[in-house]
Amino acid sequence: MRIILCGFGVVAQSLIKLFESREEELYSKYGLKPRVLAVFDSKGSAIDQSGLELDKLIQVKEKFGTVKNYSEKNNSMKGSEILKNVEADVLIETTASNYKDAEPGMTHITTAMKKGMHVISVNKGPLALAFPSLMELATYNQVMFKFSGTVGGGTPILDYAKNSLRGEKITSFAGILNGTTNYILSNMATGLSFDEALKDAKGRGYVEADESLDLDGLDAAAKLVILANWIMGMKVTMPDIKCVGIRKVTIDDIKKAEKNNSVLKLIASCDKELMVSPKEVPKDDPLGVNGTLNAIAFTSEHSGTQTIIGKGAGGTETASSILRDLLDIRQEIAKNWNQI
Ligand code: HSE
Repeated sequence: MRIILCGFGVVAQSLIKLFESREEELYSKYGLKPRVLAVFDSKGSAIDQSGLELDKLIQVKEKFGTVKNYSEKNNSMKGSEILKNVEADVLIETTASNYKDAEPGMTHITTAMKKGMHVISVNKGPLALAFPSLMELATYNQVMFKFSGTVGGGTPILDYAKNSLRGEKITSFAGILNGTTNYILSNMATGLSFDEALKDAKGRGYVEADESLDLDGLDAAAKLVILANWIMGMKVTMPDIKCVGIRKVTIDDIKKAEKNNSVLKLIASCDKELMVSPKEVPKDDPLGVNGTLNAIAFTSEHSGTQTIIGKGAGGTETASSILRDLLDIRQEIAKNWNQI
């Protein structure tokens, strides 16, 4: 499988390490032989049409902070140029999410789809701003579009709702979709002020470079958009979400929840409306998880309410979701071969 990798941050590097450490098993068990033809980060690119050496890629990135030093040839190509010039089967998009214009991820994804490449994205920006039209573009170009890692990191939330509950009608769902704000609110419940809890979360590297994405609920809202489209069949984008973050949560709000035998959580919900907002959750409710955990409760017509709990972020966790998507694509391609 020929791959172009957009972005080379923690998640993409974890994916390369997964490819390396599981090489034999991926081939013997799943028939998957990933061949990474091109990678780029914000400073440069590495390209080899016959496949890059994965251990060298990691070593170069660790030593120089960029893949540019992998080779002197073709080391300054931009993502869009690479996508136009390199023939591959799958684009894996891991550049940072932004909710203003979703670039550069949007251009990477649309260029790849128009070229007939399958796409895996862990970048939430393009999906949050244009989910319905990206699905149409994928269908029009007859390519697969996968994004398991955008919600729940390595916890298969989208797959659970879409596949494990197939045949069911999910009527509503609600959950904690942002680990950073959960960590901050959990610490406030133990007596820390908002500023102290935020400082602690920053010290642990949990908070996004643009803190507003976590604190103002944008990350949770983006995940809600993805869930609403994919699980509920809605055609919505970011402006359709009523969104309130956690900046205004006070110690008094936390104490009030405590009095009600509850905890305050940033809840993303899809019921009569789509909303992200701090809400009281009873302490014994499965959604009352602490730390950086994510949790989501799906309520369906016949099978009641089920809650999935797991880590919602992390390099290896999110890389494992990309691998799941890649295996799905490999399996679909194999099915089509059998039909020919
Ligand atoms: N900032 C996000 C979180 C990372 O805290 O959950 C995963 O999308």
